[in-house]
Amino acid sequence: MAKEATYQLSLLQGSLAKWQQSPGLRAVYAAIYERMRQHATGRQWLEIGSGIGVAHEFLPGVVTSDVTDTGHVDRVVDAYAIPSEGWDTIFALDVFHHLRLPQRFLASAAAALEPGGRLILAEPAATAFGRLFYGMFHHEPMRKACIQPPYEFPLEADGSFANMAMASVLLAPEEGPVEAICGSAWRRTACVYSDLIAYPFTGGFSRPQLLPTSCIRGMLAGEQRLPQAWMKRLGLRVTIVLERV
Ligand SMILES: C[S@@+](CC[C@H](N)C(=O)[O-])C[C@H]1O[C@@H](n2cnc3c(N)ncnc32)[C@H](O)[C@@H]1O
Repeated sequence: MAKEATYQLSLLQGSLAKWQQSPGLRAVYAAIYERMRQHATGRQWLEIGSGIGVAHEFLPGVVTSDVTDTGHVDRVVDAYAIPSEGWDTIFALDVFHHLRLPQRFLASAAAALEPGGRLILAEPAATAFGRLFYGMFHHEPMRKACIQPPYEFPLEADGSFANMAMASVLLAPEEGPVEAICGSAWRRTACVYSDLIAYPFTGGFSRPQLLPTSCIRGMLAGEQRLPQAWMKRLGLRVTIVLERV
């Protein structure tokens, strides 16, 4: 299969500029990466779809990668053909919803991980608030109804692909056919909902930060104490941990 760059890499320059200018955004991402790190195992860590490569700031020793050389990653790795090099943990932040062949990716990750190794995905969540927020403020679609067997989705005319509902429909509990998707290679060990109002006030990667960083940090600390029962309806993000059986 030819390599597919389903994400407009030209967007990454803007992302890097915003990253450098916005301590609030960095605080929110530090919390996301910390949540992912807490579920990691072993020492051989690979991140796929690293984009501007900020994982180095939060995941000590991680090897960053992307489908093409973005200029900010350690190496080139295609999510559909991850090399088997004794990886204990594979991280992917906001990548799964750009993969139009999710089962092929899961097979590639399963083959590349050691037994007991973990795949940790942080993704947009199609909760009630997530659908409202992303629908109003994010350019990528969240199309739950389109996610049907055989779970192979066409590229857009410009070669891109995004469906921000992918993780919620395919991998989150109570909502999707997880066994059918993951097969017997995986056991889901965690599914954590997070992120409510701090992230919107950072402006994300495309708008200016809207509040002082101290306010954003305060909101972040507050929302981290909210019960999962609420966050399942309101969270903007879901972190899913799959363990290689
Ligand atoms: C939304 S960006 C996320 C970048 C970074 N993880 C972050 O959160 O800032 C999606 C990334 O996934 C990468 N990607 C898309 N298809 C991929 C594939 N087949 N293999 C590896 N990476 C891929 C894109 O190049 C892009 O860097």
